[in-house]
Amino acid sequence: MKKSCRFILNDKEMEFSLSQGRSVLDLLRKDLGLYGTKEGCREGECGACTVILGRIPLVAYRPMPSCLMPAGQLNNTHLVTIEGLQGERPNRLQQAFINQGATQCGFCTPGFIMSLTGYLLEERTVTVQGAVDDLGGNLCRCTGYGSIRRAVEETVEPLLGKVPSLQGLIELDLLPAYFAGIPQRLATLRRKSPADSPDLTFERFDGNRPLIAGGTDLYVQRGDALNKSDPRFLIPESEPIRVEEGMIEIPASATMEQLRGDPHLIDQFPGWREKLLVIGSHILRHRATLGGNLVNASPIADCAVLLLALDAQIQLVSSQGSRRRFPLREFFLGYKELDLKRDELVESLLVTKHDDAQLWNYAKVSKRERLDIAGCNSAAVFTVNKGAFASVGLALGGVAPIPFTARRTMAWLKEKPLTRETFLGSMKVLQEEISPIDDVRGSAEYKRRLASALMADHYLHCFPDICSYHDFVKGGTL
Ligand SMILES: Cc1cc2nc3c(=O)[nH]c(=O)nc-3n(C[C@H](O)[C@H](O)[C@H](O)COP(=O)(O)OP(=O)(O)OC[C@H]3O[C@@H](n4cnc5c(N)ncnc54)[C@H](O)[C@@H]3O)c2cc1C
Ligand code: FES
Ligand code: FES
Repeated sequence: MKKSCRFILNDKEMEFSLSQGRSVLDLLRKDLGLYGTKEGCREGECGACTVILGRIPLVAYRPMPSCLMPAGQLNNTHLVTIEGLQGERPNRLQQAFINQGATQCGFCTPGFIMSLTGYLLEERTVTVQGAVDDLGGNLCRCTGYGSIRRAVEETVEPLLGKVPSLQGLIELDLLPAYFAGIPQRLATLRRKSPADSPDLTFERFDGNRPLIAGGTDLYVQRGDALNKSDPRFLIPESEPIRVEEGMIEIPASATMEQLRGDPHLIDQFPGWREKLLVIGSHILRHRATLGGNLVNASPIADCAVLLLALDAQIQLVSSQGSRRRFPLREFFLGYKELDLKRDELVESLLVTKHDDAQLWNYAKVSKRERLDIAGCNSAAVFTVNKGAFASVGLALGGVAPIPFTARRTMAWLKEKPLTRETFLGSMKVLQEEISPIDDVRGSAEYKRRLASALMADHYLHCFPDICSYHDFVKGGTL
């Protein structure tokens, strides 16, 4: 069924009647003839299709892959494509790409320009490394990344150490002047067509009306069917992460990037932002939600493993409005089998708030350092009292049919002294507890070795004065 959708595309207000599940990439290229947004992989891997989405009041501008976005989520937003940055001549960023020879065939270039413009619009202190990290989801097959890095350095040079404003970016010729009027125009648009209230009369498995959050699993699994569908939506990043009654409450709609940038989690877990860089890419993390990661129920889902180690609680809400809250580890029943009824949604995840920074680590082994699915991953949280473990949270992915909480190893470690012998002993207990299988990501034996290596990484990271890499090699665990 087609429905009307009203938004601002670059500097023009648009109203369309369309299948709500049609991908924004197809809307742009096939329906509107805007060919600047390129179609590469259609799986969120290459960044050629990157656009920028602006939403009020909670969300500012975010770069994201248009191949994984349903057009029905465009209502009341500002959608920016490469055409929307174009003036009579190349802007400062485009000129930097020309100056540095950072483009050859040009196929990837619009995606890089959109991701970098998105970085500058995200209201953060500008650094070269930050800009480079945010380009992690954009691939170039022919130019090489050295010249692209130089183009980045040339572009951000006048902004280093500053938090750019919309007006500042316009004055530096990084955005066209019409951007100044967009916040007002979006507010007017929203008054004319207020957002629909969320559709809570759902059956999650209604094939005719699939439920899409970020779409990063669904569009990869069945993009063609979704293109013609009339889905229901949970809008990514539509709610803030809050602290209430000693708990950090993370809505299921929180994106991975929202999770990565949350100040409470950053305070509580030193190195949080850097460690979470290995999950997806910047543009993907702006779409992928926590709820989607848990319900997709992959045994190597990164957020699931992370939240299990943090001993998170999960809260579900039914279509009748009743709620259930229980430990996340009880949510995963078997391979892709969840304690989630047909009429329930994941509403939020709750993590205990601590005033002190915690000892923790997160590590992942994959073929590529970034933007890859893990062979194995693991997170650990330790509390220590008088030289012994007071409590341990330990979870691993890729070693069992579900994201796995290593309860036996956790219990074994409790009250044991912080010594090399304890560390080595715990790795033996872990080996007895896990049950990896051979699959496309590696043999069971390989994953057993990865589990030991990840455990060693936790100890080396959290207790560098007590153990060294050689202790694990000598102890026969690596
Ligand atoms: C290029 C690429 C890289 C990736 N890298 C990683 C990675 O490094 N680590 C990783 O863990 N994953 C990765 N993924 C997988 C994916 O991004 C995550 O699993 C993501 O969190 C899914 O969230 P989503 O909002 O996009 O889910 P969607 O695709 O929108 O939905 C997935 C499923 O969850 C259901 N659902 C969504 N929200 C709720 C809710 N609140 N309640 C009930 N059901 C719900 C949907 O109906 C659907 O069945 C990657 C995917 C791609 C395409
Ligand atoms: S086409 Fe490759 S990320 Fe969208
Ligand atoms: S310039 Fe050809 S793919 Fe990047």
